Amino acid sequence: MKAESFKIAEGVYWVGALHWNTRSFHGFAIPGTTYNCYLVFGDEKVALIDNVYSDGMINQLNARIKDAFKKEGREEKIDVFIQCHTELDHSIGLRETIARYPDAEVYASPKGAEFLEKQYHNYSDVEITTVKTGDSIDLGGKTLNIVSAPMLHWPDSMFVMYAEEGILFSNDAFGQHLCLSKRYAEDYDEHFILEASKKFYANLVVLGAPMLRMKLQELTDAGIVEQIKMIAPCHGQIWKDPSKIVAAYSNWATGVCEDKITIVYDSMHHSTEKLAFQIAEGIMSEGVEAVMYHTETDYESEIVNDILDSKAIAVGAPTMMNKPFPRIGNLMYWLDCLNFKGTGSEKNTLIFSSKGWGGGAIAKLQRDLESAGFTIFDTMDALFVPDEEIYEEAFQKGVELAKSIKGE
Ligand code: FEO
Repeated sequence: MKAESFKIAEGVYWVGALHWNTRSFHGFAIPGTTYNCYLVFGDEKVALIDNVYSDGMINQLNARIKDAFKKEGREEKIDVFIQCHTELDHSIGLRETIARYPDAEVYASPKGAEFLEKQYHNYSDVEITTVKTGDSIDLGGKTLNIVSAPMLHWPDSMFVMYAEEGILFSNDAFGQHLCLSKRYAEDYDEHFILEASKKFYANLVVLGAPMLRMKLQELTDAGIVEQIKMIAPCHGQIWKDPSKIVAAYSNWATGVCEDKITIVYDSMHHSTEKLAFQIAEGIMSEGVEAVMYHTETDYESEIVNDILDSKAIAVGAPTMMNKPFPRIGNLMYWLDCLNFKGTGSEKNTLIFSSKGWGGGAIAKLQRDLESAGFTIFDTMDALFVPDEEIYEEAFQKGVELAKSIKGE
């Protein structure tokens, strides 16, 4: 196989894999992704940071490694493997890569070393040196400093700071699930890349918001943030200007939201849908942005991307057999996992429903949304198909929800 490496700094190459056609990552709808790995050439040693997923991806990695050594005019020999995180998308190829360069040293966090064995059951013969914040790996004229980053987003996660060039290898953090032909974030429209970064954050990193706040503070206090000239994550685009994504992460981790309300609903015979559309009219009449999702057709991973930076939400489902129409349930589980309240944001929530007789959806949705950290602002339980009086009530519920985020 032929595949080229991409030089990102003197003696530093992207050698990752492009997974053009993958559309799902543990339930997260994605338009392809990359598994980024980096080769760092020191005067004495060469290090490979992170690895790739599955067989086809390993072929790409091997071809790009070969190309990078050719460009550097060096004998192909890797001396150091640094595994920042062991989730399978970054580690399936590691055992094979170690076999190709059997004399190399292997570094991981203590949890990383433990997780490699527990996931693959074939690491007992591999000597793994465990590292943590304060440890450094000297490649000869180039120093890789370890920064432990537990729960960003696994207990094993760590970053590597290449001191001389100011490159932070951040593994999953600051990444995006995108598969594009150019490697820098700045090669593409800024809004497009930041939206993809937000979706990645909302679905994979948000639970670690308290740890992220502490890590950003720790890196700032240690003077590391100002030394970062580039952020090279393990998925998607590399940030030549780290300031935009660091500021965005800081906002998302502290609950900074837009004047926006996300409405998400399901419907059996369009009555709850009619309520959703009227609530949107009420919201819009107050000059507040309304975003609409239907759980029959829209992915949870897209819905939570908008919920992350919405100041309020409205959730609707009809009653079926005394409970909410069950297709809304996936979203309820997902919101409970993500714990948006950990970002510090209080999201006022309107729950709406249509029922034929006894109802029951509202009570269950209220319990689920409260458990997931949302603040119940109001509810609306309408009977059968909306008439003009019900439309007016739904409109006013939207108005009041919009006013609540404007502090009125
Ligand atoms: Fe990209 Fe946590 O793996």
